[in-house]
Amino acid sequence: TLTQAEKAAVTTIWAKVATQIEAIGVESLERLFASYPQTKTYFPHFDLSQGSVQLRGHGSKVLNAIGEAVKNIDDIRGALAKLSELHAYILRVDPVNFKLLSHCILCSVAARYPNDFTPEVHAAWDKFLAGISSVLTEKYR
Ligand code: HEM
Repeated sequence: TLTQAEKAAVTTIWAKVATQIEAIGVESLERLFASYPQTKTYFPHFDLSQGSVQLRGHGSKVLNAIGEAVKNIDDIRGALAKLSELHAYILRVDPVNFKLLSHCILCSVAARYPNDFTPEVHAAWDKFLAGISSVLTEKYR
């Protein structure tokens, strides 16, 4: 669980990210597919060319889900319960991929807001994304 200071850091950086949901969502997915091309196998039905309608739509969905987790930072499990079932039972995404996507989201945020991305914000944002990943993968067990 996040400390009060970590929650504050997450909320502060999120206020910036929230103004760039689609751009940061698309960039995160583009980084994921470029650096870890095996992740593309989950999206055979998508047009993965740069800036495609599907990439923009999906990037926005992923970042909006993270926004829901920020809003419900004391009950991330409850906020993401449906998504957790979707990823585990229907999509069957291998849990290793959540670390990869989290890393790409972290890079996208850092690249866009370098001055805000202090070591403290980095650590809090990383821990927050790891928390989301563990909620989204806990149904596998
Ligand atoms: C769908 C969020 C990680 C693969 C979705 C949706 C959301 C979402 C909001 C749309 C659900 C709906 O339409 O009701 C997230 C979040 C993640 C995450 C917050 C972690 C931070 C991953 C990873 C993969 C993945 C790591 C695989 C590499 C998919 C696929 C779909 C999906 C294949 C269905 C896409 C479609 O057909 O429209 N995810 N996801 N997700 N996710 Fe994730």
